[in-house]
Parts: sequence; C-alpha cells; structure tokens
Amino acid sequence: MFNKKSAGNEPRDVIKVVIVDDIPDTRENIKKLLAFEEQEFRVVGTAGTGTEAVRVVQETQPDVVIMDINMPDMDGIQATSQISKVVPTAAVIIMSVQQDSDYFRKAMLAGARNYLIKPVDPDELYGTIRAVYKQHEIIRRQQAAIQSVPTDMRVASSPETDAYALRAGHIVVVYSPQGGVGCTTIATNIATGLMKKGIRVLLVDANLQFGDVGVFLKLQSQSNIYDLVDKIDDLDIEFFDSVVSSHESGLKVLLGPPRLELGLEVEQTPNAVGRILEKIAQNYDFVVVDTACHLNEAQLALFDMAAKVVLVATPTLASIKNTRFMLDLFDKLNYTPAKITFVLNRVEDDRQRGPRATIETETF
Ligand SMILES: Nc1ncnc2c1ncn2[C@@H]1O[C@H](COP(=O)(O)OP(=O)(O)OP(=O)(O)O)[C@@H](O)[C@H]1O
Ligand SMILES: [Mg+2]
Repeated sequence: MFNKKSAGNEPRDVIKVVIVDDIPDTRENIKKLLAFEEQEFRVVGTAGTGTEAVRVVQETQPDVVIMDINMPDMDGIQATSQISKVVPTAAVIIMSVQQDSDYFRKAMLAGARNYLIKPVDPDELYGTIRAVYKQHEIIRRQQAAIQSVPTDMRVASSPETDAYALRAGHIVVVYSPQGGVGCTTIATNIATGLMKKGIRVLLVDANLQFGDVGVFLKLQSQSNIYDLVDKIDDLDIEFFDSVVSSHESGLKVLLGPPRLELGLEVEQTPNAVGRILEKIAQNYDFVVVDTACHLNEAQLALFDMAAKVVLVATPTLASIKNTRFMLDLFDKLNYTPAKITFVLNRVEDDRQRGPRATIETETF
C-alpha cells in the first residue's frame, strides 16, 4: 500500500488510536485497516464496553478514539463525555450504524470531534483520523502548557477527574524599583511565551506616564487604557474587547495612554488599573502587567492582586539595594516567597553603568 509517510519531506507523527466496539470482529477489521498504514497509525488499545473504554483511554493516552455507540453497560455517548473530561487530549470519532441526526447531535455535545457511518470506507477512515488529529492540536498544546505551569495555578476540570484546566485570571505583575532594567522586555516575553503555548493572555501597559509596550510591539492604536477610565464602574467585556489591541502575532494588548497628560489623568483615578483588572481578568488565563518603577497606592494594590510578582534587577549596587528594599516590603506585607520571582537581568552586559554588585544568594 502507498506509504504516506515517505510521500512528503516531513515525517508525520504516528497517531495513537484506541478502538471501542462491542463486536470483536469489528474491532479486528478496523485494526487491520489501520495496520495497512502502520507508519501513520498505531492501535494502542481496544475496548468492548464504554466503561472499559474510559479505563483503556486513561491507561494508553491515545490521540484518537474510534467509538461505537450501542454497547453493553455504558454506551459510546456517555463514554465520550467521560473521556473528554478525563483525557481531553484524546479526540473521539463516533463510528456507528446509527444514521439518526439525534445521535450525531448527542455525540457532538458529549465532546466527539467527528462521526463515521458503518461500514466505513478505508480512505474516509484514514482521512477523518488525520483531520481530527489536526483539529485537536490546539487542545494537545493547551494541555502541554497546563502541565508546565505550577499546580496551584491549575484546577481539576471536574471533581472526579485527574485532568486539569488553568484557573483563570492570574495576574503577573512585572516590576522594578529601578528604571530601564528590562521590565517591558520581560513582560512582553512572558506574555508572548504564554500565548504561544495556547494560553489566553492579555498584556497590560500600566506604566501610565512613560509606557512603551506599544513602541516595543510596533502597535499603533487609537484605543488605550485612557478610554476605559470614565467607564470603570460599569465596564463590560464587549467594550473592553473593543479597546484591546491585537498584535500581528495574536497577542492581546491593553496599551497605555499615548500622551503624558492623558497618563496623568488616568493616575488621578484611584487604582484605575487594579479596578479594570478586577473586572476583566477572569476572561483570560493570565494577565501580564508591565509597570513603572515609582511606588504608590495603585502599584501596591496591583502587587496585592497579583498571583506572581516578577521583580527585576540588574547587577548594579543601586539596583540590588532597591531590590532589597522591595523584598523587605514584600516580607512586611506577608507575601509568600512563591509569590515573588526575582529576575537578575543583563548579567553579561558590560555596558551597565555604576559599581557592580556582588550578590549573595542567601540574602534573598
Ligand atoms: N537581557 C537583555 N539583553 C539585552 N538587552 C536588554 C535586555 N533586557 C532589556 N534590554 C534592553 O534594555 C533596554 C531597556 O529595557 P526595557 O525597556 O525593557 O526596560 P524597562 O525596565 O521597561 O525600562 P523603563 O523603566 O523605561 O520602563 C531596551 O532597549 C531593551 O531592549
Ligand atoms: Mg518599560
């Protein structure tokens, strides 16, 4: 048979498949069909009932499940519903003799990705598995990203499962008591990195006087945080979305005021950024906030709201001394060490001015 793996220059992933059907002959037939394309599909398990299917899928973590509907004990629709919660990376294709659109609708609502009618044509089977595997890529990437964030930022996607989703609304505040040390660079990199992992992220420029996220990202927009200020008390997400800018990479950005006097006006509104974030943070997994170096009530409120404060310094005496002050302050505010991430930036950069600091890590 034509070997598709050697057809292109890029080798294809091997797609791991579980076959679920109560009739052993049907399982065997599909297995044989997939064996013809063994370089592309690998059957990692089979099951004869819905209950068995959920167990086998948990054990084998397949990419795709071919699922019958009518089976003893748990039927294929219930099994699909459980699998999509327990192993969200497994994409389910329902394969049934049932042509009733009601079954199709129920299967899709239960989380199935596609539907095949028995008896299935081999090319249709291969094509559907490939298509579903591709469509599910975003879910696989999201789950991989979730595994890479700390467990306290995850939440069980349902009480009875061991699958996780991200808890929404984490605020990451990037701050330095010293200007020019790299806060905007780091905030932009954190936000972009999270976005590339499929995580819903918003970058906020809260450096209200001299913010330069827009310059960094070459984003020019008429809309910015200034437009939100007189609507904070009844801010709704539709209006907020209309003010948020989209970078060509897909990153969502709430830009700072484009002129100093507008920034000063925003600062007249008590805790403007914090109050805006309170209203909208839940619509994102992470909100990354770039801040100015001056400390005031509004900045302290942002620290309090943050799940994580990224404290940036460079290896100069002035920067390390100021960082020490900040760590003492965080200590007095009873912040846990886990809340603070210390970043020593530009360590290799000889152009840094001022006396170099020798840093004893025990101090932190
Ligand atoms: N690790 C690094 N290596 C090289 N250049 C860097 C690094 N980090 C930051 N820079 C550069 O240093 C300059 C200042 O960085 P950035 O604007 O991110 O600092 P900032 O703390 O946000 O400054 P400000 O106080 O003006 O807001 C920029 O030109 C940036 O490209
Ligand atoms: Mg900056």
